[in-house]
Amino acid sequence: MVGENDPVKVMKQEVGKAAAARVESGMIVGLGTGSTTAYAIEFLGSRLQSGELKNIKGVPTSFQAEVLAKKYGIPLTSLDAISQIDIAIDGADEVDPQKNLIKGGGAAHTREKVVDSLADMFIVVVDSGKLVKELGSTFLLPVEVIPMAISPAMRAIEKLGGKPELRMGVKKAGPVVTDQGNLVIDVKFDKIDNPGELEKTINNIPGVLENGLFVNVADLVLVGEIVDGKPTVREM
Ligand code: 5RP
Repeated sequence: MVGENDPVKVMKQEVGKAAAARVESGMIVGLGTGSTTAYAIEFLGSRLQSGELKNIKGVPTSFQAEVLAKKYGIPLTSLDAISQIDIAIDGADEVDPQKNLIKGGGAAHTREKVVDSLADMFIVVVDSGKLVKELGSTFLLPVEVIPMAISPAMRAIEKLGGKPELRMGVKKAGPVVTDQGNLVIDVKFDKIDNPGELEKTINNIPGVLENGLFVNVADLVLVGEIVDGKPTVREM
C-alpha cells in the first residue's frame, strides 16, 4: 500500500525498478536523466552490488546521470568506445498514445536524443500523470539554442506560432545553461498537430541544436500507477 509515501514518488520508484530489472549481464545501457531514471540507476547499482548483474556499462545522457552512475558503482563508457547500445532507460515529460514524447524538463534532451535513438530498445519510464492525448497540452516544448542565436531563434519560433520563454535558473541568477553550455527556450504551442514535422522544422532554425520532441523513438513505455492503493507498472 502507498500509505504515507508520496504517490508520485512511489510510482517513479516502481517504474524505475521495473525498467532496471530488464537489463541483463553484459549489456551496454543508456542512462537517462531525471528523477524517475535516477531510481533505475540506483536499482541497477544494487543489482550489480548483489552480483545478480555483471559486466554492464552505462552511457550517461547528462552530468546528473554520470554523477549518479558513479555514486551507485556503474562503470561508464562513451559513444567513441562502443558501436551499439542494448537498452536505454529514460523518463519523459509527456507521452502521447503513439508513444511520441516531449522531453527536456531537465534540459538534457540533446544528449538524451542521441543516446535513446541509438538503443536497440528504448524504454520510457513515467508515472501515469505524464500520459496526454496530445503533446504540448501540459508541458512547454524545450528547445536548446546556442547563446548567440537566442534572439533570432525566438523570433523564428514566434513565426511558427509558438510563445517562447527563456528558461531561468532556480537558485542561480540568470538562465539555465545546458551541459553543452547552451540555453533553453520553453515554447507554448496552442496545438501540435504534427509532432514529426514540427520536430524537423524547429531543428532547421539556425542556432537550434535540438528540441524535445521525440517522434518514433520509444520502443516501450512503462507506466507507474497506483491501483486500489497499490503501486503497479503496466506496459503502454
Ligand atoms: C530531462 C528529461 C527527463 O527525462 C524528464 O524531464 C522527466 O523527468 P522526471 O523523471 O524527473 O519527471 O527529459 O531532460
